Amino acid sequence: MLEIEVAKIKMKNPLMLASGILDLTRESMESFSHVGAIVTKSVGREERKGYKNPSIYELPYGLLNAIGLANPGIDEYIKEIDGIKVDVLIGSIFGENGEEFGYVARKMTPYVKAIEMNMSCPHAKKLGAEYPTDEIKEAVEEVKKSGKPTFVKLGMENLMERALQAIDAKADAIVAINTVRAMAIDIDARMPVLANKIGGYSGMAIKPIGVRCVYELASEYDLPIIGVGGITSAEDAIEYMMAGAVAVQIGTGIYYEGKEIFQKILRDMQKWLDENGYNSIKDIIGIALKR
Ligand SMILES: Cc1cc2nc3c(=O)[nH]c(=O)nc-3n(C[C@H](O)[C@H](O)[C@H](O)COP(=O)(O)O)c2cc1C
Repeated sequence: MLEIEVAKIKMKNPLMLASGILDLTRESMESFSHVGAIVTKSVGREERKGYKNPSIYELPYGLLNAIGLANPGIDEYIKEIDGIKVDVLIGSIFGENGEEFGYVARKMTPYVKAIEMNMSCPHAKKLGAEYPTDEIKEAVEEVKKSGKPTFVKLGMENLMERALQAIDAKADAIVAINTVRAMAIDIDARMPVLANKIGGYSGMAIKPIGVRCVYELASEYDLPIIGVGGITSAEDAIEYMMAGAVAVQIGTGIYYEGKEIFQKILRDMQKWLDENGYNSIKDIIGIALKR
């Protein structure tokens, strides 16, 4: 029994495709039909070209990227998701202020079951992790006017304080974490490897940070937490859920394990539940918090 519910949205399993990975086109998103929910690429009011190449770089334990929120803009993107055949589509959006967030959310609303507000890209200044903490509440209130469950995606920076602002505005869930602000230097070229110099680190290396963030959020606040960061196996997903996550997202894991990573995790997760005498995945949510 892998079914779960997040903010009254029923999902056939707790796995979600994380924003930004293979979610720019309808065909790609539809190919993940076995996944509990699909989160779209983060979309803004207007088209953004993103940063110059190199914008992605493989490190020993994960990926460093500075794509720069490249996206076609909401009007173009809507054409991609109009009529899309996925069980649960969640629209990821970003904005410079409450008005912009509200605008993109309204346009996204007819096509999605929930909105995920990206307020955590570590290399996009005010469009990301530098979105002012004292303006989060207003932006969430604007998006909530769409009538859709509103998830707020935060990074590790000032997490508890930022989450509180979202919760004050009645956010329906917190998604944590985004990539971790990081850099690599090419010592032969004597310069940073990414054109943008600073990027975000994802994959295996950040899993303990993500687990810690989920655990702290779930210990302190009473709303659904969705865990993301470095999941490549059923054990990783179970760890996040024991820390308090009701669902988990996977991004970089696809780069390492292929798209089949979802089927593999679902299979291994069910096996683990059977072997450990659990009837439902829900029974493990937050059990590590109680010890
Ligand atoms: C290439 C790439 C692009 C991403 N784009 C977005 C994005 O548009 N919006 C967003 O909220 N997160 C974005 N992320 C962050 C992921 O959704 C996720 O939070 C992060 O990578 C940690 O999870 P992972 O280790 O499973 O990848 C991106 C990550 C990568 C690697």
